Amino acid sequence: MAGKPTEASGLDRILTLEIARVTERAAVAAARLRGRGDEMAADQVAVDAMRQELNRLPIDGTVVIGEGERDEAPMLYIGEEVGTRDGAKVDIALDPLEGTTICAKNLPNSLAVIAIAEKGSLLYAPDVYMEKIAIGPGYPANTVALDATPTENINAVARAKGVPVGQVTACILDRPRHARMIEEVRATGAAIRLIGDGDVAGVIHTTDPDETGIDIYLGIGGAPEGVLAAAALRCIGGQMQGRLQLNTEEKIARAAKMGISDPNKIYTMEEMARGDVLFAATGVTDGNLLQGVRFTRDAIVTHTIVMRSSSRTVREIKARHQDLAKFD
Ligand code: FBP
Repeated sequence: MAGKPTEASGLDRILTLEIARVTERAAVAAARLRGRGDEMAADQVAVDAMRQELNRLPIDGTVVIGEGERDEAPMLYIGEEVGTRDGAKVDIALDPLEGTTICAKNLPNSLAVIAIAEKGSLLYAPDVYMEKIAIGPGYPANTVALDATPTENINAVARAKGVPVGQVTACILDRPRHARMIEEVRATGAAIRLIGDGDVAGVIHTTDPDETGIDIYLGIGGAPEGVLAAAALRCIGGQMQGRLQLNTEEKIARAAKMGISDPNKIYTMEEMARGDVLFAATGVTDGNLLQGVRFTRDAIVTHTIVMRSSSRTVREIKARHQDLAKFD
């Protein structure tokens, strides 16, 4: 019966397809404002659209990674209850527009993203930075580690992949805080793809190096984005570690309120997203893995990836929406 848990994990199988609608709707709304130079407006329409669609899902959901704390985000704030409230109890991590600046500039890889997991199985991360490292599937366990140097990690990836270091490409956010890391990675002989924004896509891209050209993600980005990326990797396969950047008393106190007692803890991918996880992302702008939204004369075309950790099923949904009124 729709809305009732049908499997041991408690997540209704029907959700694997239903969540695509949620990211599709947010992506279409944001894409209408693509390239208009207005980050806030694009984010707002994506939030509105995602919330509306989320509230149609047969779930009793709580936003645990969202648009911010309740006092700073009126919608999809942390703790907001969403869904029809008569289905499985789930936690939700979301970003209706990941890469607001990318969307405003119409550059590659902005996404509408959501992850749904059993209650209590996503890391309740505060909105701080997180140091991250990620590689895709097919490597021996513990090939890379946050505590190792960038040089050690790059060399380990090259060795495990069986290629010279010169054939490894690392993805790093283009930020002054990464200047030393960038220098060190270049000194190994590896190449770097510097991205302006959008490290959820940066991490996901490590899962298909032949398609994206990226072998490893390194560096400091948002913690909420870290949890979303970990959820995606749990479904596709890969390795990831994250360490919250709790470098002030205020941040340590904020994290403590969310149940984090060790400010220096390194979280594995499984600790950031446990149990059965569903993940969906729809391209807003064109990207390496997902095409952005297309507006044609009589249809809207969306490209979405939907995945589930328990079955490791990865579905790509290219949808041609002809009932345009539903997107108004
Ligand atoms: P927004 O969508 O909120 O603009 O985030 C984009 C992003 O690039 C994330 O992908 C990344 O984790 C974070 O910002 C990095 O933060 P900062 O821009 O402060 O370095």
